[in-house]
Amino acid sequence: VLQTAAADLITHGEQGMSVMEMSHRSDFWVEHQRGIEANLRTLAGISDDYHVLFLQGGATTQFATVPLNLLSVGASADYILTGVWSVKAMREAQKLGYDVRASASSEDSGFDHIPTDSTVNPGAVYVHYTSNNTIYGTGWNRPPDCGHGYLVCDASSDIFSRPMDVAAHGLIYAGAQKNLGPAGVTLVIVRKDLVGAAPADVPTMLDYAVHAAKDSAHNTPPVWSIYMLGLSVQWILDQGGLEAMARHNERKARLLYDVIDAGDFYKGHALPESRSLMNITFNLGTSDLEARFLEEAGGLDMLNLRGHRSVGGCRASIYNAVPFTSVETLSEFMVDFARRHG
Ligand SMILES: Cc1ncc(COP(=O)(O)O)c(C=O)c1O
Repeated sequence: VLQTAAADLITHGEQGMSVMEMSHRSDFWVEHQRGIEANLRTLAGISDDYHVLFLQGGATTQFATVPLNLLSVGASADYILTGVWSVKAMREAQKLGYDVRASASSEDSGFDHIPTDSTVNPGAVYVHYTSNNTIYGTGWNRPPDCGHGYLVCDASSDIFSRPMDVAAHGLIYAGAQKNLGPAGVTLVIVRKDLVGAAPADVPTMLDYAVHAAKDSAHNTPPVWSIYMLGLSVQWILDQGGLEAMARHNERKARLLYDVIDAGDFYKGHALPESRSLMNITFNLGTSDLEARFLEEAGGLDMLNLRGHRSVGGCRASIYNAVPFTSVETLSEFMVDFARRHG
């Protein structure tokens, strides 16, 4: 993806200029964006019942946009709390005055698992969940129950890492920066019948109906980010699609979890049934050992392995783009480090 982008950066094919220099209303770009959307629909099995929107403002802006569009006055929704992002999503809805509630939470045990004991509040219009939790290394194996409502998923950190059941959801959103491309574009997949009910005073840029009616070009879209997203989608298709991506990610994750489970030297943060395929979190016995581990790994060009400050320890983020061989190198290093320091 990066090599193709580098080649296209100055001049896109026969166009004589970069996509960044073109008008976003030019025939070329409009057609190009349509092609990206078509590929994306093929990749994820998105039917015509859904809009595919390319928005700005990151996943964080969706924390407000979702309730503003989907909840009418007096309506309520459930949020399942599995980490800081779902808490932030719920608080944003509460800040806007909506009646949203936590129907389950794993906060008491440091968000080390996915709670499966949630009871959907009768009358909840939607159930919001975060499919993967980067900080704690947890993920949902299958979507939660949504009662009589529908599911809304923040899939920012595991979108397109495996097949997803779009039809089980009313709305799926994801900031691009993990598996889709550079930050700057936010993907929203929303059922068409849910769009158009936002109150008249909703800000224009937060109204899904406006973006749907204008093919995500109500104002100037982030064409370069969308273009890069298009290359990532093409790359995943070339790898064999989401089933192949799931096998690739499962193989990588298994390598590291096998090392963690092989003895007492590494202790995984996430409970085994809630483990993420994207972020593998673990602690070593002491902070001195962890510092040594990070230093030695860094010396071997294995970077960014420090865990998030709220849980400490170590974290290997092995998104789609991380090759199997890199994870193999890390797992061999982990085995060797445990042998030398265990
Ligand atoms: C699950 C999840 N939701 C939301 C966010 C915040 O996304 P953004 O920075 O695009 O607002 C992140 C971080 O990337 C995330 O992992």
